[in-house]
Amino acid sequence: MDIMAFPRENDMLPQLFLLLTVFFLLLVKFTFSKNLKNLPPTPPTWSIIGNLHQIGEKPHISITNLANEYGPLISLHLGSQLLVVASSPEAAMEILKTHDRIFSARLVPSAYRQSSILPYTLVWSDCNQTWRTLRAICRTEIFSVKAIEIHSRVREEKVSYMLDFLRSKEGEVLNIAEVVFTTSFNILSCIIFSKDLLDLKDEHHTRGGLKDSIEKVMEYGGKPDFSNFFPMFRILDLQGIRKGSHKNIKRVFSFWKEIIKETRSQMGSSAWTSKQTKSLLDRLLEEGVSDNQINQLALELFIGGTDTTTSTVGWAIAELLRNKEALSKLEREVKKEINSDKITESQLSELPYLQACIKETLRLHPTTPFLLPHQAQETCEVMGYTIPKGAEIFVNIWAISRDPKIWDDPLSFRPERFLGSKVDFRGHNFEFTPFGAGRRMCPGLSLGLRSVELLLASLVHGLEWVLPDDDDPSKLDMDDKFGVTLQKEKPVKLICKLKKESLVA
Ligand code: HEM
Ligand SMILES: *[C@@H]1O[C@H](CO)[C@@H](O)[C@H](O)[C@H]1NC(C)=O
Repeated sequence: MDIMAFPRENDMLPQLFLLLTVFFLLLVKFTFSKNLKNLPPTPPTWSIIGNLHQIGEKPHISITNLANEYGPLISLHLGSQLLVVASSPEAAMEILKTHDRIFSARLVPSAYRQSSILPYTLVWSDCNQTWRTLRAICRTEIFSVKAIEIHSRVREEKVSYMLDFLRSKEGEVLNIAEVVFTTSFNILSCIIFSKDLLDLKDEHHTRGGLKDSIEKVMEYGGKPDFSNFFPMFRILDLQGIRKGSHKNIKRVFSFWKEIIKETRSQMGSSAWTSKQTKSLLDRLLEEGVSDNQINQLALELFIGGTDTTTSTVGWAIAELLRNKEALSKLEREVKKEINSDKITESQLSELPYLQACIKETLRLHPTTPFLLPHQAQETCEVMGYTIPKGAEIFVNIWAISRDPKIWDDPLSFRPERFLGSKVDFRGHNFEFTPFGAGRRMCPGLSLGLRSVELLLASLVHGLEWVLPDDDDPSKLDMDDKFGVTLQKEKPVKLICKLKKESLVA
């Protein structure tokens, strides 16, 4: 997601900033004042920068504070870009359901406004033909119930490999999020390319490697970018953000270039026709899709699927460590229902407390606190206010899912609240939409959920988690770091110990 934290000094060219802004003072004033009547309430603005100075490094917190003061629908002027933020279930429903079509466009961050991306993107396209075609292909090949069943073997294999790896590291201090990242990355890369692209054993993943480059692509998308606040300067790319993102995207593509080439050359052979399961790549090639299109889609699936899964598992582990009762309850459930050494996906539906723990984690730590940026494609009336065409739209699910008017004791991790409750995240309960709702809703919900469930259940089933130096889990640092996804500021470091009952006989 593209973030609007106020630019830090070292990110900027301060003199140039000053010069240019003074120069364009009148122009910006003009942009502000044209046709902006009856906007949702706005906190006091400064000239030129508008509300930028009120945002800071943790926009989910500062914007929530502004909403508490100014109401469930507010407008903020980020430079010359107007942002409207919805922070109540009613406002979220207006955006994602009542006026779903009008607000279904995307505001493309400057980092990704590139001619090598825009014609091929699923995530950043408006709901146009490109978007429809790509979502349809993905639905059939990887997101449907049938596709998810077909790929369950891949997930079980990767998770089992991960457990073996963790057992081999017994007693060592590990960054569990790294291990989960690599595992969920390989799950996806096997679905997309029939091949692992990362290696758990490559701990000091060579600089300039694939993981590194993907992280950079996301970092660039999450940087406070002057070009987003003052689109008239976009072409200058003052901070070099678009350039840096472009460079890293090209680097990422180079990691699977050979795979595409090789697979393309095998098309039509007898080995091809007799393949048991086809990868997404096989299908795309059969459909006659170009390399550019394949590259971009693969990148977006990796970015959409890996960090979200990893951060959800990471937060769940952190919350469970801090909430011993919940952890023991989960351990008891898993022990009771799973009699084998390994968990298979068909057993996951027998674990209601596990599912409640995951919901509670997504409530407290939604991976994208504002969803991805939507945009108004027409001027529209919402809750008696006017949202002008072109406005960027955030739905502040972080605020909604911590609102004491909606949730009992909202800051406590209490999975029980979801047991026997009808509140679900499939886009019908607007107090809880960690995957969004409406036509832009996450297409990877079921796939992501399966991975999170299998990963978390297997980590609980197979291993005992201990903090290094016998640290007190209740003092675990729960600070978050705002970026493309909301991550833990300090990753959980764990020592894994074998559970006796899970030892292979
Ligand atoms: C815990 C796991 C996940 C969470 C919490 C999550 C959450 C989200 C959210 C909030 C959005 C934006 C919705 C909006 O803008 O209104 C989104 C979009 C998207 N997600 Fe996920 N996601 C998860 C897993 C996945 C996985 C596994 C994939 C694919 C492999 C995926 C692919 C996508 C794509 C392609 C979009 C863009 C859809 C569009 O713009 O039409 N996600 N996700
Ligand atoms: C869909 O939207 C994207 C981004 O706005 C654009 O580059 C692409 O050409 C559009 N596709 C069609 C078929 O209009």
